[in-house]
Amino acid sequence: MNKAAEPLLSVKKLTKHFVTKTDFLGRPKEYAYALNGVSFDIYPGETLGLVGESGCGKTTAGRTIMGLYTPTAGQVFLKGRQLDLSKGSSRHIQMIFQDPYASLNPRMTVAELIAEPLRIYNIYQDKAKENNRVYELLDMVGLSREQANRFPHEFSGGQRQRIGIARAMALNPELVICDEPISALDVSIQAQIVNLMSRLQKELGLTYLFIAHDLAMIKYISHRVAVMYMGEIMELAEAEFLYANPLHPYTKSLLAAIPVPDPDIRTDISLVKGEVTKATANGCPFANRCPKVIDRCYNERPEIREIKGHQVACHMCGD
Ligand SMILES: Nc1ncnc2c1ncn2[C@@H]1O[C@H](COP(=O)(O)OP(=O)(O)OP(=O)(O)O)[C@@H](O)[C@H]1O
Ligand SMILES: [Mg+2]
Repeated sequence: MNKAAEPLLSVKKLTKHFVTKTDFLGRPKEYAYALNGVSFDIYPGETLGLVGESGCGKTTAGRTIMGLYTPTAGQVFLKGRQLDLSKGSSRHIQMIFQDPYASLNPRMTVAELIAEPLRIYNIYQDKAKENNRVYELLDMVGLSREQANRFPHEFSGGQRQRIGIARAMALNPELVICDEPISALDVSIQAQIVNLMSRLQKELGLTYLFIAHDLAMIKYISHRVAVMYMGEIMELAEAEFLYANPLHPYTKSLLAAIPVPDPDIRTDISLVKGEVTKATANGCPFANRCPKVIDRCYNERPEIREIKGHQVACHMCGD
């Protein structure tokens, strides 16, 4: 990671509210506040881990950056240039999806699936050159050329995810958004896929936004980690600092919930208790589950500030 460099990606106050109910005139009546003013930078060559419980908005963040959802507010910059997210995706940003079964069209062969992004962007006019690129991508992800004319159902979960990775790499992206790329896979296969992704990162100089729902999974691959809760970032720090010295009460709870091999030394006193509902519109979203809560937390939304090299949104995290 090169933090002296300009950020590759800058996300500024990104907000996405989905309309979940309309009245009889079709006017919005209820919203899901999936993303509420999320800001972060990703530097060239780094992996930023994005973690949080189910429903906290991780996929929404990834899909909005990809241009698959139009943001309600906020901006995304790639190398300092603002992306027009209403116009769809940028070829420089690609995504690897959680479910390698659902994300591949079952009627297309592996070669067609990998060539599809190349065709969409009209990269090769020459069929032989396109084929060569497909073979190169197959080699890159550890699949054989003989497998090119087979269909996705003939492959195992890990192999299908390799196909998904080859597709994501086809256009030489700068940023790859990995949305829980290993959580649907057999535990025995997960390390292989993570190793493949780390190798590709080094070889191709890739930058990753790596989404996961628990901190244990991304400990070894993330340079920095952002912890999200109900559509907001609670804490963002170098992975090493975050795991050794979490500052936000929510990060502490998440870390305490990581199962440790010896059950006797498991410390779940601080496990998150209470319902996952937003306390107030103005306050800290974590207030009603937080062991450190004070009145102010219900009334005033904590802004992200820098404490001991961490970025933290908490009134109770002192200097
Ligand atoms: N297309 C949509 N329409 C309406 N609401 C949505 C839509 N997509 C997501 N949401 C809501 O937005 C919130 C965030 O969802 P999101 O899928 O981004 O969470 P997540 O962190 O990826 O969860 P998971 O770990 O389960 O994948 C949830 O409350 C969800 O119900
Ligand atoms: Mg998700």
